[in-house]
Amino acid sequence: MSAARAGRPSVVVTRRLPAPVEDRLARDFDARLNRDDHPFTAAELGEALRTADALLPTVTDRLTADVLAVEPLRARILANYGVGFNHIDVGAAKARGLTVTNTPDVLTDDTADDAVMLMLMVARRAVEGDRHVRSGAWTGWGPTHMLGTKVSGKTLGLIGLGRIGRAVARRAHHGFAMKIVFHDPYPPSPAVVAELGAEPRGSVEAVLREADFVSLHSPATPETRHLINAERLALMRPSAFLINTARGDIVDEAALVAALKARRIAGAALDVFEREPQVTPELLTLDNVVLLPHLGSATQETRVAMGLRACDNLKAFFAGAPPGDRVV
Ligand code: DGY
Repeated sequence: MSAARAGRPSVVVTRRLPAPVEDRLARDFDARLNRDDHPFTAAELGEALRTADALLPTVTDRLTADVLAVEPLRARILANYGVGFNHIDVGAAKARGLTVTNTPDVLTDDTADDAVMLMLMVARRAVEGDRHVRSGAWTGWGPTHMLGTKVSGKTLGLIGLGRIGRAVARRAHHGFAMKIVFHDPYPPSPAVVAELGAEPRGSVEAVLREADFVSLHSPATPETRHLINAERLALMRPSAFLINTARGDIVDEAALVAALKARRIAGAALDVFEREPQVTPELLTLDNVVLLPHLGSATQETRVAMGLRACDNLKAFFAGAPPGDRVV
């Protein structure tokens, strides 16, 4: 190993990242890249924490208290690639003296676009229509053929008005003339709320009762696990749709299947799942649900920006400056 290489912090990167990011990592650090992109096992994560100065994990790495209990622990920072960090036991990380960072902001627009796309896809039956054409079943235009639900001018209920919730509200209100109602225990300032044309509601239940579309934008925490359960689904209008681009376990997937099968709600559009990459098999059989494979931030531009942000966090940390995106 050259002297320069030996002097650089070592970073284990758990998944393949876009080329410009891997190039920068290789330039700035003693980077150990995952050339075949296999998801790391708990043993591989432990080995990385024992042998490298830093870990650059993603949502597919479960950094539990057990994994973080390795001895001796060499790593000092978990520079997560992604804004959500519910796959990391941050309490355990903190107890072990690890710094944890994430990559907010850079994926806000893409994730908001994804939520709006899902809303349109499920309301306008885009996936059904595509399957219909491909199957050769289409016999031509008809006044009553494949009618969906109008989106423009309807009421959108947001559970959570953080960065992504606000970006969805902006698109929906200014682009689709939708009325925006929301619940957030930590709402943004009244000026921001007014600019979005959004109206606060005192509870999740109040939003669910009123909305034609409900879009979830809460972080995944023990408190938000199964926030949308059978009782809350029962409060939604039979004509309403549920959109989830946040995290899968905010929704009780079994209760959602039951509500969709009984047509207690009109439909759902999901980008995230309770047990990713497994999907409750019954969801695959239902026409009134759209299913995407966790694509919220999946554009070339954003996946590069996320990686560069994680690099910046590592750079700042090893330069002794507080990383901008420190979580703990
Ligand atoms: C995020 O950034 O949280 C995305 O869901 C990928 O992890």
